[in-house]
Amino acid sequence: MLIKLYRNIRRNIREDGLIVNSSGFLVNAMVGRIDFTRPLRILEIGSGRGAFTRELIGRMSTESELDICEIKAEYNAWVEKLIAAHPDKQVRLHNCCVTQLLTRPGYYDVILSSLPLKNFEDVASKHAFLYQIINAMQFGLKEGGVYLQYQYFKSNQSDIETVFGKAMDDVSFVPLNILPAFVYQMSKPVGLGASSSTE
Ligand SMILES: C[S@@+](CC[C@H](N)C(=O)[O-])C[C@H]1O[C@@H](n2cnc3c(N)ncnc32)[C@H](O)[C@@H]1O
Repeated sequence: MLIKLYRNIRRNIREDGLIVNSSGFLVNAMVGRIDFTRPLRILEIGSGRGAFTRELIGRMSTESELDICEIKAEYNAWVEKLIAAHPDKQVRLHNCCVTQLLTRPGYYDVILSSLPLKNFEDVASKHAFLYQIINAMQFGLKEGGVYLQYQYFKSNQSDIETVFGKAMDDVSFVPLNILPAFVYQMSKPVGLGASSSTE
């Protein structure tokens, strides 16, 4: 029993970059930054069992659209249940790597990511996949659009700033989460070039 629990925790950290689902405090700290008073195109990346998805679907207007990108189909049942509870909302679930989804330039007003960026670091390739992911998010975001990301240990802030060519708009700390997390808020500057989604 304890061995199984330990194995599950190790697997969660290795594959998903988390121990348990994000807390309500972290969810509110992220979702609370979105202005839902106008129609939005929103992309949620790495929904897992839907801690953020539930709030996004609940708060978005019926004119807004939400794309959910989760690479693992094993979480579909949780997310599909949330979608089914709101038939009036425009929500789509995509089971793929987010780099495959982010092919349209400047499409989203908001990108909310739970991706474990730290797990994508790879010195041997000069962090090629990490940068492919951050570039794809920058590419898919509208000018003036908002990218929200949480991370443990304040990792990868400078990587995001390098790709967006500016400092974070805001970094806040949410202690009441396992693990305590930093919330990054980055807006896409006007006139920022993005030659390709997969650079
Ligand atoms: C840290 S978990 C977050 C789960 C949930 N949003 C939460 O905060 O409780 C990260 C999620 O990202 C997903 N993921 C990892 N790499 C991905 C990729 N390249 N594209 C889409 N989803 C990915 C994982 O399968 C996992 O469910």
